[in-house]
Amino acid sequence: MRFRLRFMFWGTIFVCCTTLMTIFAVFREIGVPVAARVETIHRNIKKTLKHTSILDGINLLTGKERAVPDHQNASKYDEWVAGKRRQRPVWVSNESKRKNGTHLLHWQQFHADITENQMYSSNAPYMNDLLESLATTEIENVGLFHGGSQLKLHVKLVDGNYAMLKPMRTPRSLVYNYDEDQPFWFDVERHNAEIAAFHLDRILNFRRAPPCAGRVLNMTADIKMKTKDKDLLDTFFRDGGNTCFEGKCAPWFCNKDHPVCGRGEMLEVSLCVMIPFYHGNEDPILDRPNPWSHGVREARIWQEQNICDDILKNPDNAEGRFLLDLVEQSIFDFLMLNYDRHHFHMLQKYSSKGFVVALDNGKGFGNPDLDDLTLLGPLAQCCILRDSTFRYLKKVNGSKEKLSDHMRHTLVKDLIDPVIHEAHLEAIDRRLMKLLDLVGDCVDLYGEERVMVKGNLKLPFPETGVNMDM
Ligand SMILES: *[C@@H]1O[C@H](CO)[C@@H](O)[C@H](O)[C@H]1NC(C)=O
Ligand SMILES: *[C@@H]1O[C@H](CO)[C@@H](O)[C@H](O)[C@H]1NC(C)=O
Ligand SMILES: *[C@@H]1O[C@H](CO)[C@@H](O)[C@H](O)[C@H]1NC(C)=O
Ligand SMILES: *[C@@H]1O[C@H](CO)[C@@H](O)[C@H](O)[C@H]1NC(C)=O
Ligand SMILES: *[C@@H]1O[C@H](CO)[C@@H](O)[C@H](O)[C@H]1NC(C)=O
Repeated sequence: MRFRLRFMFWGTIFVCCTTLMTIFAVFREIGVPVAARVETIHRNIKKTLKHTSILDGINLLTGKERAVPDHQNASKYDEWVAGKRRQRPVWVSNESKRKNGTHLLHWQQFHADITENQMYSSNAPYMNDLLESLATTEIENVGLFHGGSQLKLHVKLVDGNYAMLKPMRTPRSLVYNYDEDQPFWFDVERHNAEIAAFHLDRILNFRRAPPCAGRVLNMTADIKMKTKDKDLLDTFFRDGGNTCFEGKCAPWFCNKDHPVCGRGEMLEVSLCVMIPFYHGNEDPILDRPNPWSHGVREARIWQEQNICDDILKNPDNAEGRFLLDLVEQSIFDFLMLNYDRHHFHMLQKYSSKGFVVALDNGKGFGNPDLDDLTLLGPLAQCCILRDSTFRYLKKVNGSKEKLSDHMRHTLVKDLIDPVIHEAHLEAIDRRLMKLLDLVGDCVDLYGEERVMVKGNLKLPFPETGVNMDM
């Protein structure tokens, strides 16, 4: 007992001293003190919170393009992209494989590869064939997908597989401002963001996003003639030589003034694999509110205080992979600037024990000029990170081949290459540095032992209540 008390006494003195020394070191050695950085985060949060006004006076950036001052070239850029397009993607180099029609086997391999910890394995030998299949397999039928506020179609391919289709709605180099006139919740989904996000997630080695590929459809042959869905069929029309449809979704995203229009009959889309049904017909996806959501109401809660402690009070959250996945998801969203994470998703099959699925990434890659640290809420408030992820990010940051290079090397194989504008790729490298700075602050405050987590989280959590004054 005596020993323990003495131990505790000296332990406390030690902890106090090291904390003071750390704080001193942080102030002396890092140009920007932690307090100032937290202040910046806080300011950004306040700024985000101001975007709470109403829909009035905001033009949706679809169909007819709206010119944004700095990006007058938006549609020119897309014309250039269209001119550059190949006939086929280059995921699979073997012609004979292509001629063999369906890629049924690769879909089956993919489905079998989904586990409690990953959407697909690190080598995933079927992946290129699967992407090729998404980009080339003939469409059997199409219907509106009901769910979410924005327009998407569900697609059945002739080999019996299912995919989620998102149409191109805005030019690639259009920048969404995320300011009072263009609040984050009013942002239109980008088909190309889904594709780029899948590859980013794969490159980061998270492997939690469904595979997606780009393709170009004939709206008459591949959509209109392949659907019996009246909500889709009845909204087709022609506008200045282009085929368009309105579809049905939330009224402010689907209306006469903001249709989906092709160039002539041709429309660029993304196709992502649909997660297979659970038990034959049950929804495979579990939806849970994201505690660090940027939703107008939810954000107030965590932006006024550190909620990590509360979240850890639930043993389900404090053990296993959940919180570490959420931290990585925040990193993923920060790198592509995605505010649209009101919910996080898991697979019904594994209930709360499974990985956090990176589903619905269409609102990423909308603004390459803005780096918003508030997207790193879970990282900043809990100050934990998978050791392996940290090492990998640090390695990439320090190597000649940047994250953007990895992205370029893989995206070039997609049929709709260039998938995203170069500015977004450059933004990824810049954001990575900022994110590593934040991790550095956590390490300075709590030490690497406490911040870097090997394996899963275990109870008791070493030290909760990370106070970053948020
Ligand atoms: C617009 O295009 C011209 C020529 O292609 C280029 O020099 C200029 O930098 C572009 N401007 C923007 C804002 O992208
Ligand atoms: C292409 O695939 C076929 C059948 O799978 C195989 O026999 C052939 O060796 C492959 N060719 C190349 C160049 O990989
Ligand atoms: C096509 O695929 C089938 C079934 O997977 C296989 O039996 C057949 O040999 C393949 N044909 C060619 C030309 O590769
Ligand atoms: C699109 O498909 C329709 C119906 O099959 C066809 O008549 C039309 O020529 C196609 N358009 C293009 C540009 O290929
Ligand atoms: C990341 O790279 C930048 C620029 O090369 C460097 O200044 C920074 O120290 C690096 N961060 C880490 C954690 O290695």
